[in-house]
Amino acid sequence: MRNPRSFAKPLAIGAPTPEIDVPVRPSRMIHFFDPSNPRMATKVPDLVGKLDVLLANLEDAIEADNKIAAREGLIKIARNTDFGDAQFWVRINSLDSPWVLDDLIQIVTQAGDKIDVIMVPKVEGAWDIHYVDQLLAQLEAKGDVQKPILVHAILETALGVANVEEIVSASPRIQGISLGPADLAASRRMKTTRVGGGHPGYLVRDDPDPENENAPRPTAQQDLWHYTMARMVDACAATGALAYYGPFGDISDPIGCEDQFRNAFLLGCVGAWSLHPKQIEIARRVFSPPPDEVRWARRVIEEMGDGTGTVMIDGKMQDDATVKQCRVMVESARLIANRDSEYAEAYGFSAEDLADA
Ligand code: GLV
Ligand code: MG
Repeated sequence: MRNPRSFAKPLAIGAPTPEIDVPVRPSRMIHFFDPSNPRMATKVPDLVGKLDVLLANLEDAIEADNKIAAREGLIKIARNTDFGDAQFWVRINSLDSPWVLDDLIQIVTQAGDKIDVIMVPKVEGAWDIHYVDQLLAQLEAKGDVQKPILVHAILETALGVANVEEIVSASPRIQGISLGPADLAASRRMKTTRVGGGHPGYLVRDDPDPENENAPRPTAQQDLWHYTMARMVDACAATGALAYYGPFGDISDPIGCEDQFRNAFLLGCVGAWSLHPKQIEIARRVFSPPPDEVRWARRVIEEMGDGTGTVMIDGKMQDDATVKQCRVMVESARLIANRDSEYAEAYGFSAEDLADA
């Protein structure tokens, strides 16, 4: 338990006051890059205008020999880049690694004002968040950081899933959670060898045809991640945090990637990771509410007037609950339209509509 009143107070003298509400900004794609790679660094200014979130990765996928170069590259990029209205996030090394302490000390004291969110991998329980929370406050004070840095947890161990509710409610810094299907599969001893997505062996099959036992029996592949995603979405929605699908490793399968992202979108997630430039557009398309649905939602809101009672629109009953769903759709479309002019046009919002987003 933490004293809820302490949520509004800094954990170290001189640290900025925590924000109580999660600042909701579009984060349809969290695009990972390797900050040790000088070629990538030159692409950053161009990428910033095309992305909601640019994430400098220090953890898995960065070779041990490159960990320090990645940290130094990240500090240089952070200091030299104007991120405009895009967000800059960092994935630090895991809390049991030999690199994480210096990751936090150096990035927060040398580039803390440029970092919106720190992504913490392999979070297992509230104790991990409490440790990062306290250390960040000390480092923010030391580095004279003005805006509190938020924390994003990756849900990628069996123990983390068992503790997801306490993780998400451990600190006001919690911005959200991503599902990490690759490490989670390993932690759970799942018999897969992939990074996210489905598996052809995880299926249900139609009953046998009593008239013809040899008739083919159609099967349907099931979603391996449904249970975890639903728990994560509930924990996040219950506490005002945001939920994300993580990585889809088969870059050569844009259709499978789009399906996995769309399942997450429909279930309540606001974004996913992009590991390759090809996945940026997929995430942008999937996590921007479809324009026809937004038009429909605006019509429902308008015809429902003060939101009470029921109306029939095209044979479909509308009431308090549907109008609330429609508001979620329109609010997220407005937020996106404010930073993505193509979608602003597709949604048909006027300048006045966008002004109140
Ligand atoms: C992400 O980090 C994952 O393990 O899926
Ligand atoms: Mg992982």
